[in-house]
Amino acid sequence: MATVKLTINDMEIEVERGTSILQAAQQLGIEVPHFCYHERLTVPANCRMCLVEVEGGPPKPAASCAMACGDGMVVKTDSPMVKKARKGVMEMLLINHPLDCPICDQGGECDLQDQAMGYGFDRSRFQENKRAVPNKELGPLIKTIMTRCINCTRCVRFAEEVAGTPVLGQLNRGEDAEIGTFIDQLVQTELSGNLIDICPVGALTSKPYAFKARPWELTKTESIDVHDAIGSNIRVDVKGREVLRILPRLHEDVNEEWISDRTRFAYDGLNDGRLDRPYVRDDKSGKLVEATWDQAFAKIAEKLDGLKGEEIAGLVGDLTEVESIVALKDLLEKFGSPNMDCRTDGARFDPSERAGYLFNSTIAGIDEADAILLIGTNPRHEATLVNARIRRAQFERRVKVGVIGEQADLAYKYEHLGDSTADLETFVKARSGFAKIFKDAEKPMIIVGSGVFEREDGEAIHFALQAAAEKLKVIKDDWNGFNILHRAASRVGALEVGFVPQAGGKDFNGILEGTRDGSIKALYMIGADEFDARSQIGNQAFVIYQGHHGDHAAARADVILPGCAYTEKDAIYINTEGRVQYAKRAASPPGDARTDWTILRALSEKLGQTLPYDSQMQLRNHIFETYPTFAVDDTPIKASWAKFGSKGAAGKQPFVNPVRNYYLTNAICRASATMQACSREFATQANEYLEAAE
Ligand code: SF4
Ligand code: SF4
Ligand code: FES
Repeated sequence: MATVKLTINDMEIEVERGTSILQAAQQLGIEVPHFCYHERLTVPANCRMCLVEVEGGPPKPAASCAMACGDGMVVKTDSPMVKKARKGVMEMLLINHPLDCPICDQGGECDLQDQAMGYGFDRSRFQENKRAVPNKELGPLIKTIMTRCINCTRCVRFAEEVAGTPVLGQLNRGEDAEIGTFIDQLVQTELSGNLIDICPVGALTSKPYAFKARPWELTKTESIDVHDAIGSNIRVDVKGREVLRILPRLHEDVNEEWISDRTRFAYDGLNDGRLDRPYVRDDKSGKLVEATWDQAFAKIAEKLDGLKGEEIAGLVGDLTEVESIVALKDLLEKFGSPNMDCRTDGARFDPSERAGYLFNSTIAGIDEADAILLIGTNPRHEATLVNARIRRAQFERRVKVGVIGEQADLAYKYEHLGDSTADLETFVKARSGFAKIFKDAEKPMIIVGSGVFEREDGEAIHFALQAAAEKLKVIKDDWNGFNILHRAASRVGALEVGFVPQAGGKDFNGILEGTRDGSIKALYMIGADEFDARSQIGNQAFVIYQGHHGDHAAARADVILPGCAYTEKDAIYINTEGRVQYAKRAASPPGDARTDWTILRALSEKLGQTLPYDSQMQLRNHIFETYPTFAVDDTPIKASWAKFGSKGAAGKQPFVNPVRNYYLTNAICRASATMQACSREFATQANEYLEAAE
């Protein structure tokens, strides 16, 4: 690695050749004000706020974001020349700026406000009227006040480079320059909320959050997202007990500094449609009526009394944390029930080997992959930030991508290789085109969507994928390129604790069948909302639903026990890579709702099967001792490669992407007015374009 040595403000530093002066100064802890520069975007050098003085160079300030460090350079970031130049730049930037900080949603967290205070001039010599720029309609998520725009073009570059949807651009020149969409259209990307974060001023702000609070009024809690299986690191901002904002936290190996729109904007669904007290179905009227916890527990005790273990079953849904899953598993085991499953999407795969269900290469591993094969997945909808990494791999390193499955707009180019296991077999045998590139790759990566297993032949597909991974040589000494991309935040945690059918037990489909044929007489569900409980659960079974929203499953329940949403409890989640992360309680649950594992603990006592933990610490210690993969925080424990799946005939029917509406994938989203609006707006726009294209 070639390096250069230079001096900045009398401090010596050695940096990699190609490092900009601004980056070198940041490494030394020197603040250089800037607007257009963003470390994850290309460098346009158009704001000129980052000016520095380079001794011996031209007698004028230089833009430090665009000037590479040179050997022996002597740089000043605080000389009189620099200070004067910055004041000049700031004065120019503010010529047309409205300066409406008191009524601006960016106030208190605005780069322009901060830098004007730190580096600006305390008066202006311009008397002319300020120009006004018409606002743009970008959809239900982003509010625009374009007169505040300083034309830094960060949003333009983000849309093009990170999101892969180049709909924004700088229109016109000089006095008339403005940011907009070339034709009137919404910004249709699942990453659009990040535009708000990267805009250094209040030109792009959050529409749902507009005028709700000032930053200093909010209680900020660092937590983990549950809207997909990535486990994005987030910050939850709360006022009172209401979540008012969700922002990304930096985690380079998971979500970097981005989050998807569902993660950011579905929070209003935490307030609507909530279950805030227990309900019990009245035997006479057949209606759910409000009840006390004691009445609800008494009803459950009455119905479970005398049942055999094999007549009881448990299901956990997509948002359930590890603690509750373990508590339910322990309770079912106390009753001697082997019937349990976490795959409420009906997926059938072999859960016995970790390598068979983890995203083994890790999400950050995408940055090393040199060829990627997607099978039965639309990562843009199933794991938006995984898709953004694949997009970057192609944008920056020209990594080739192939797809076997349903075609979709993934925001990057790919070669479509077919849509079924037959096409996978053909690909394994092929010797040219993308197949050759893939086989010649040093770090090839297969990403399989969990949706491919949601059919009768799921286990045979699992087996075929294992064999294909070996034939395609994606498993090497230092690289495991076989990856399952899950969609449910709870899934890997549940698999790691073995919340799958025990010896002789029924799986999800078997349990539902059992409720219809009478072999399952009691079903306990935690947040199992992603199937149509009313039509699929038989009348024979007594159904207990524990969860936070009155969604599909609550409507079928005989007893409802109100639990907490992910922002209301301390909880362990494991992401699709097998990374253990901790969500933190940021808000109180509504009404009588309780933390989920405590509900199970209290119920177990009423049922005479007391669970052996009285505090969350005791429960967690029990988890750490019983399941060794929980011992390490925030680092996926690698799985050894193994055989998995069941040999059999995998059907030739095409893989179907399981997410049909990105905005409405769980109970929180469905209760969110913002997500419902997105669903309407973006689906309508997509249809209009399709019609226009026809
Ligand atoms: Fe003030 Fe910043 Fe808003 Fe401009 S964008 S009005 S400087 S808070
Ligand atoms: Fe920069 Fe914001 Fe204007 Fe985009 S809208 S160019 S991010 S100031
Ligand atoms: Fe260097 Fe904008 S940050 S010119």
